[in-house]
Amino acid sequence: MSRSITIKDISRSFDLGGRTVLALDRVNLNIAAGEFVTLVGASGCGKSTLLRLIAGLDEPDLGMIEVAGVEIEGPGVDRAMVFQNYSLFPWLSVLGNVLFSRRLVANRYDLTASERDGETARASSLLDLMGLTRVQDAYPDQLSGGMRQRVAIARALMSRPAILLMDEPFGALDAQTREVMHDLILDVFAKEKSTIVFVTHDVEEAVYLGQRVVLMAPQPGRIDTVYEVPFESQRLPDLRLEPEFLHLKRAVMQRIRETSGVGNVAAAH
Ligand SMILES: Nc1ncnc2c1ncn2[C@@H]1O[C@H](COP(=O)(O)OP(=O)(O)OP(=O)(O)O)[C@@H](O)[C@H]1O
Ligand SMILES: [Mg+2]
Repeated sequence: MSRSITIKDISRSFDLGGRTVLALDRVNLNIAAGEFVTLVGASGCGKSTLLRLIAGLDEPDLGMIEVAGVEIEGPGVDRAMVFQNYSLFPWLSVLGNVLFSRRLVANRYDLTASERDGETARASSLLDLMGLTRVQDAYPDQLSGGMRQRVAIARALMSRPAILLMDEPFGALDAQTREVMHDLILDVFAKEKSTIVFVTHDVEEAVYLGQRVVLMAPQPGRIDTVYEVPFESQRLPDLRLEPEFLHLKRAVMQRIRETSGVGNVAAAH
């Protein structure tokens, strides 16, 4: 199941040491149900702010956000967020993390035996999808970064969210683990059929994963360019070496450089 997201004329400003920062300036974007959109742009262009607004963790000053045509009011079980720093419960096992978060989200601990069985079956199939079955009884500090992030994704998927929001989820991982995670998340996308909004600094990641790449620009935070990604949804690692891929990647990187206001590509990292 998936749902559309409609972002209508959103503005959000912050007070930063007496100065007003316009983090988002009249942002409009329609994301179709079942679409995979990636958000890129120079540091400070409002990517995390936009994601938090979609999650309902923050409210806009102006404008509104609709999910499947209904204005959101705060967080909801239809949306799940995965952050960069996985934030697992260290005192719970892998399986415990996946199960407990689901109950936390649903605000229900008084499950019947059959509901409990249903949840355990769902958790097991997600751990299987994530390649974590062997470590389901391990604790977070016994896992590698890539494994922890897979637990965080399994946890987010537990309540079958219609919308999966990811804020630089692979930012802390090495390049090889990251590539493995890319194919895994595409697999999740194909199987779970959620709408995905994925924030990243990494343009290659954005082009490899996204059906559209939304490029934002800072000061004020806004949408600058939306790129249609012309590759089919089944993507293979060597796509990253194809001329058409490199061409698009270069165009996006150049535009980030132009909009960052700093004048070098380091500003995009
Ligand atoms: N809670 C807050 N209080 C004050 N200013 C904030 C707050 N959250 C965001 N901002 C400001 O809003 C702007 C956008 O921040 P945001 O975190 O959305 O950017 P970003 O695109 O996610 O950047 P990065 O790529 O570095 O993560 C920045 O100028 C930031 O300082
Ligand atoms: Mg951010």
